Amino acid sequence: MTPISRLSLLIILSIISAGISAEPLHLPVTRRENSTPRDIHYYAAAADRTRAKFGFPVSSTRKRGSANVQFFIQGDDASYFGTIMIGTPPQPMNVILDTGSSDLWVVSSTCTRACGRVPTFNSASSSTFQTSTSSAAGRNGGTTIQYGSGTVAGTIAQDTVHMGSFSVTSQTFLLATSTSTGLVQNPVSGIMGLAFQSIASTESTPFWQALVNAQSLSTPEMGVWLARAGNQSSSDNADVPGGIFTLGGVNTTLFSGDIKFTNTAGTPSFWLLNLDSLTAQSQTITLNASNQLAAIDTGTTLIGGPSDAVQEFYANIPGSGPVLGQEGFFSFPCSTTINATLTFNGTTWPIDPTDMNVGPVQTGSTSCLGGIFDLTLGSDIPVGTGNPSWVVGDVFLKNVYTVFRGTPSSSGTSNGTPAIGFAQLSSAAGGSGTVSSSGSSSALTTTSAATSTPSSSGATSPLSSSPLRCP
Ligand SMILES: *[C@@H]1O[C@H](CO)[C@@H](O)[C@H](O)[C@H]1NC(C)=O
Ligand SMILES: *[C@@H]1O[C@H](CO)[C@@H](O)[C@H](O)[C@H]1NC(C)=O
Ligand SMILES: *[C@@H]1O[C@H](CO)[C@@H](O)[C@H](O)[C@H]1NC(C)=O
Ligand SMILES: *[C@@H]1O[C@H](CO)[C@@H](O)[C@H](O)[C@H]1NC(C)=O
Ligand SMILES: *[C@@H]1O[C@H](CO)[C@@H](O)[C@H](O)[C@H]1NC(C)=O
Repeated sequence: MTPISRLSLLIILSIISAGISAEPLHLPVTRRENSTPRDIHYYAAAADRTRAKFGFPVSSTRKRGSANVQFFIQGDDASYFGTIMIGTPPQPMNVILDTGSSDLWVVSSTCTRACGRVPTFNSASSSTFQTSTSSAAGRNGGTTIQYGSGTVAGTIAQDTVHMGSFSVTSQTFLLATSTSTGLVQNPVSGIMGLAFQSIASTESTPFWQALVNAQSLSTPEMGVWLARAGNQSSSDNADVPGGIFTLGGVNTTLFSGDIKFTNTAGTPSFWLLNLDSLTAQSQTITLNASNQLAAIDTGTTLIGGPSDAVQEFYANIPGSGPVLGQEGFFSFPCSTTINATLTFNGTTWPIDPTDMNVGPVQTGSTSCLGGIFDLTLGSDIPVGTGNPSWVVGDVFLKNVYTVFRGTPSSSGTSNGTPAIGFAQLSSAAGGSGTVSSSGSSSALTTTSAATSTPSSSGATSPLSSSPLRCP
């Protein structure tokens, strides 16, 4: 080979590796079925974690100290996780895929406080590991991440992070050496935040954004299908197929019709949309500029909203009312079917009544907990501070196929407006839609409630990855 052709070959090879985007990655997501009883205390604690995560005061009932409320990050909320690899050679790690935060953190093998018996990252055995020079690292390279009501502390570091065939060299993450009790539980070793850099405690570019900036993805999109829980035996913790997370595109077998995209609202921080309105039993609650900003958060279980709108919602449900002693929660007769919808940019999406019924308030009770709670507890946080009025979690997201579409950013500032799309679930994903190729025009615009049929989470077979576990 002549030097010139060797040079052109090199050029061609570098063009291939730098410029041609890889096929989308379809990562099976696992959902944890926790044996912890999911009663009102459980959800009250989860609601307070959501409040803390989004900058709202936690409930006074809890501040006064309700005993025995355990802090589980998995359990029902934030329970969807997938596997990534960190380091050279790569060490596999399960992380919660969280569109409501922006940091990556995993438990270090040198963790000394509340580390759980989880797979840990051993930095000493990675040849590409570096402690960080990030400005957030501070003098000793340490920092803490406040996550809900939990805290994670450790060292800011960099290493190569892989998700399937996608990798980012020198990805910044927090190597946790201490966490709040109960924050990590086998087999999950941390969280991968999928929101924007502006809210990252490590002040660094999130993994997904680094891939978008490097033009590594054929489409700058993350497609999310969160499967509904099956009725697994609750005698033991079980990790069950929980959906598919697609990086670099969408999975066309999981939705039907058009994906209805809406530009995100405000400055990219959380993934924010304006929620136009919601309905309960066909009665519409119209929102306005002061109460419609909504974070779309895979890491939150329920739907949280502003006091007024949530009260108005339950006023349409006969027999419903606030749960005594649990500020912010509402119950309703278990025999009642709640038909609820959310409308984003003119398109109305029904929520299956099974998702709106979170279960009996107490074992044996005929009162059931509603899937929407009062997030703000009457607090008067002004709009424009970046605090959403709504947090739209899995109670809604299990009913749609969701696409998070990013834009390239420089110095943490997005170029162009990111968008979020929703589409009707296909029958393969437990929805009532038929699978169609992209570009078909049968978008869902119905205002009738819950057209989808409840699905079992085992409806499709590709979800077969067995999660990592400590022996
Ligand atoms: C959707 O995801 C499944 C499971 O990973 C995969 O087998 C299938 O090829 C994907 N479909 C498309 C159209 O990419
Ligand atoms: C809402 O939908 C309309 C019509 O499809 C579109 O023109 C508009 O840009 C959308 N609004 C946002 C905020 O994306
Ligand atoms: C809920 O929706 C279903 C299906 O459209 C309907 O049959 C039922 O009457 C509705 N229930 C209420 C209380 O609106
Ligand atoms: C928005 O709606 C709330 C609650 O319904 C109401 O109190 C407020 O006055 C409205 N604000 C505007 C600007 O219309
Ligand atoms: C749920 O449990 C019932 C009764 O035990 C069983 O017949 C059904 O197949 C289960 N469904 C799923 C999706 O596991």
